[in-house]
Amino acid sequence: MKNIAILLSGRGSNFKAIYNSIETKIINNARISVVISNKGDALGLKFAQEKGLNAFFINPKEFCSAQEYDKKIVKILNDYKIDLVCLAGFMRIITPYFVKSFKNSIMNIHPSLLPSFPGLNAQKQALEYGVRFSGCTVHFVDEKVDHGPIISQAVVPVLPNDTVETLSERILKEEHKIYPEAVKLFVEDKLKIVGRKVIVKKS
Ligand code: GAR
Repeated sequence: MKNIAILLSGRGSNFKAIYNSIETKIINNARISVVISNKGDALGLKFAQEKGLNAFFINPKEFCSAQEYDKKIVKILNDYKIDLVCLAGFMRIITPYFVKSFKNSIMNIHPSLLPSFPGLNAQKQALEYGVRFSGCTVHFVDEKVDHGPIISQAVVPVLPNDTVETLSERILKEEHKIYPEAVKLFVEDKLKIVGRKVIVKKS
């Protein structure tokens, strides 16, 4: 049984997609052992509480540095014997200390085809750049932002009348497919990192 942690800051729709895949046994032998938010009013945190999961608001304002904050998070993750950390709309840059503590065991989802449009407002960046296609990326987290080895990507068209909202919605639908699929591959020990590349092992 693999213990999964979810870190989020807001709505939590990717968290719900992963949660549903576990509940419906699309992902087996895994449980969401803890959910952590850096925002007290995050809807995702509320959902976790409603589902009876271990759910914590850890307030960054109570820590003197990003590393002290991450030390607290890492302590919680160790307490719950976490195997996989899923960043699911966690809008903080995690410190090298955190990355090292969970080497090759932290995943993130980003709403663009990385390495294009890292950072904030990826959908707006894509629209403004005028690309014809965008999408989303699930990747392992390394010390650079939106940079680590890519596990999976999905492509969506950018349509002439798209707004940030319509494009984000189209991308989000794909996020909800590829993130649980990536988690499933991890849980089944099918992902192997070789340099920058992620090899998906055949069963
Ligand atoms: C998602 O679109 C996710 O890709 C994005 O935040 C949203 C969270 O939505 N993450 C990033 O931009 C990280 N750089 P959710 O809370 O409904 O899952």
